[in-house]
Amino acid sequence: MTGDTVLEAVDLCRHYLLHQGAWKAPATVRALDGVSFRLEAGRTLAVVGESGCGKSTLARVVTLIEPPTAGQLSVRGVPVTTHRRAALRPLRRSVQMVFQDPYGSLNPRKTVAAILGEPLVINTDLGTAARRDRALAMMARVGLRTDQIDRYPHMFSGGQRQRIAIARALMLNPQIVVADEPVSALDVSIQAQVLNLLMDLQEEFNLAYLFISHDLAVVRHIADEVMVMYLGRPVEHGAKMQVFERPRHPYTRVLLAATPRVNPALRQVRLVATGELPSPLAPPPGCTFHKRCPFATGRCATEVPVLREVDDRAVACHHAETI
Ligand SMILES: Nc1ncnc2c1ncn2[C@@H]1O[C@H](COP(=O)(O)OP(=O)(O)OP(=O)(O)O)[C@@H](O)[C@H]1O
Ligand SMILES: [Mg+2]
Repeated sequence: MTGDTVLEAVDLCRHYLLHQGAWKAPATVRALDGVSFRLEAGRTLAVVGESGCGKSTLARVVTLIEPPTAGQLSVRGVPVTTHRRAALRPLRRSVQMVFQDPYGSLNPRKTVAAILGEPLVINTDLGTAARRDRALAMMARVGLRTDQIDRYPHMFSGGQRQRIAIARALMLNPQIVVADEPVSALDVSIQAQVLNLLMDLQEEFNLAYLFISHDLAVVRHIADEVMVMYLGRPVEHGAKMQVFERPRHPYTRVLLAATPRVNPALRQVRLVATGELPSPLAPPPGCTFHKRCPFATGRCATEVPVLREVDDRAVACHHAETI
C-alpha cells in the first residue's frame, strides 16, 4: 500500500580510509556523513547535489552492495545492519538498482532473454520456458518488441537498452528501485520517454524510487520529495514544491539558479557559489558550505548548522529564516 515505509535510513554513514603512502597516516573520506530519510511505497525521493557529494555512495549502501560504517538502515521494516549475510538475501531482492550507463551495465555477450532470465535462475526454481515467458511479459511491459528477445544489447538504441536495464531490475518484483542517474546518458528527447515509463511502472507496481540525479529539470518531472546533499550530508529535504518554489538553503538556491527553467523566478537572483567543492578529506569547519556561500556570516565559519524544521522542510542553515 502507498504510505507503508519500505526504506528507512537513520544517520547513515559511509567513511573510507584512504591510504596515502607508507609514511602518512590514512585519511578518512566522509563520503556519506549522517543521512536520514524515510521512503514510502509508491513515492519518489530524489537525491540531488554536485559531483562527489555522496549520491552513488548512498545508492551502494541502500542496495546493500556496501555496508554502512555507522547508522541504521531498514528495508521493509527489517534492520539490515544487525543481520547475517544469508538473512540479507530476501532483502537484497526487494531493492534493485538501475545504473546510469546502459552500455556498461548490460553484458554484451548475453541476449535479452538471458539478461532478463538471470535473476530468475539465481532466485527462483522456474524452468527455461517459464523464465522466457516472464522475460517476454516484462519486455512488453517496458515497451520493447518481444520478437527481439534473442538480440544482444548492442543491437538496441540507448533508450531501449535502458528499458532492458529497467526490465531486469523488475524481474524479482522489488519494492524499491534505486536509480542512479538513469537518464543522464540519454538524449533529451528520449529522457522524457524513459521517465514516463518509470512513472507508469511505479504506479502499476507501487514502487518506491530513490532517484539520484544532478539534473533538477529531471527531478522536477519525477520527484515527490527532494533531498539536497552537500559533502555527504543533506542540507535541505522536503516536498518538491516547497524546496523548488521556496528554497531555504543557499546551496539549493545556487543549484536552482543554475537551472532557470525549473524556477524562473530565481533566475534574477544571480546566485553563484564561488570557489570549488572542498575536498571531503578536509571539509571546512562550521558549515561546510560557508566558504562558497553568498550569505555566510562569522557564525557559519565556526558553528555546524544542524538539520532543523523551517517552513515545512528540514534545512541545515543558520540563516534559513532570512535568506
Ligand atoms: N571506495 C572509495 N574509496 C575512497 N573514496 C571514495 C570511494 N568511493 C567514493 N569515494 C569518495 O566519496 C565521495 C563521494 O563519492 P560518490 O561517488 O558517492 O559521489 P557522487 O555524488 O555519486 O558523484 P557523481 O555525481 O560524480 O557521480 C567522493 O569524494 C569520492 O571520491
Ligand atoms: Mg555518482
